[in-house]
Amino acid sequence: MLFRPRRLRRNEVIRNMIAETAVNPDSLVYPMFVVEGEGVKEEIPSMPNQFRFSVDELLKELESCVAVGVKSILLFGIPNYKDEIASSAYDENGIVQRAVRAVKAKFPNLYVITDVCLCEYMSHGHCGIVNDGDVDNDPTLELLAKTAVSQVAAGADMVAPSDMMDGHITALREALDAAGFANTPIMGYSAKFASAFYGPFRDAADSAPHFGNRKTYQMDVRNGREALHEVELDLEEGADIVMVKPGLAFLDVLRETAEISNVPVAVYNVSGEYSMVKAAAKMGWIDENAIIRENLIAFRRAGADIIITYHAKEVLEKGLLK
Ligand code: PBG
Repeated sequence: MLFRPRRLRRNEVIRNMIAETAVNPDSLVYPMFVVEGEGVKEEIPSMPNQFRFSVDELLKELESCVAVGVKSILLFGIPNYKDEIASSAYDENGIVQRAVRAVKAKFPNLYVITDVCLCEYMSHGHCGIVNDGDVDNDPTLELLAKTAVSQVAAGADMVAPSDMMDGHITALREALDAAGFANTPIMGYSAKFASAFYGPFRDAADSAPHFGNRKTYQMDVRNGREALHEVELDLEEGADIVMVKPGLAFLDVLRETAEISNVPVAVYNVSGEYSMVKAAAKMGWIDENAIIRENLIAFRRAGADIIITYHAKEVLEKGLLK
C-alpha cells in the first residue's frame, strides 16, 4: 500500500501539526438581549444560560464576558412599547440606543454590533410595515434606515440588518453616509432563510409574527441558488460583510457564499441550533463541549470568517478552541 493516511494520525503532535482548521477566538460574536427596567436578569426558558438583561445587569454581565475574551457583541432590544410603525426601534432613547451608550461608555473597546430589524418593535411581530396583510418593502426601508442611523448615533460600531427587505443595504448605506457615518460597516444578513431554527429566539425577543409567517421576505429553505443571488445583491449594494443564517443546516450555502464573496463571510449559529445542543446535553445524550467545538469547526471549515454564536462566552471560558 503506497498511501496510508493513518500515518499522519499516529499521535496528537502530528495531528495538531497538520490540522487544517482553527477557529479564531477573536472572530466570535456574542448575541445578547436587552430589556427595559432595572435589576433584570431573566433566563430565557428555551435557551438555557442565555438571559434578558436590563442595561445595568448587561453591564455587569459584560465584565465577565470581557474578562474571558469576548471581543464583540450583537445586541437585540426588547422594548416595552410596540406599535405599527416600530417607533421604539428608532427612538434615540430606545432600549438598544440606551444600552449601546451605556456599554460603549463602560467598555469602549468592546465592538458593539446592533441588529437592525423591526419585528421586536412592531405590535404584529412582522419585520416591516404591514399593508394589505403583507410586509411592504419600500416604506419599511425608510424605517430601517432611521433605526440604523439612531443606533450608530448612539455609538454602535457596526449595524446588521436582519429584515430581508430588498434594497436594504443601499437604504442603510445612503442614510448612514448622509448622517456622517460613512465609516460604519454594514453586515448584511444576506442569505437568511425562513427557518424553524429561530423558534427559541422568538420566545427570547417576543418577536413571533401574530399572523402568517415570514415566507414573503425570508428565503425558502429549498433554495441554494437563490441564496447566492441574495448574497450577490448585498455585495453589489456595498455590504461590508455578508452572512448566511442559520448555519448548520445551510453549510452548503455557507461554502458557496465563501467561494463567491470577496468580503468576509459571517454565519449565525442560531437559537434553535444552540437549544438543541443544550437539550441533548441536559439529557446526557451527547458530549456537550465536544459537540460545540465540532459545530464551530464545521462553520470555519465551510468558509465562515465570523461566527455569531450563543456559545461564545462559554467557549472562551472553557477554552474549547485550544
Ligand atoms: C429578527 C431576527 C431573528 C433572528 C435574528 N434576527 C428572528 C426572525 O427572523 O424571526 C434569529 C436569531 C436566532 O434564532 O438566534 N428578524
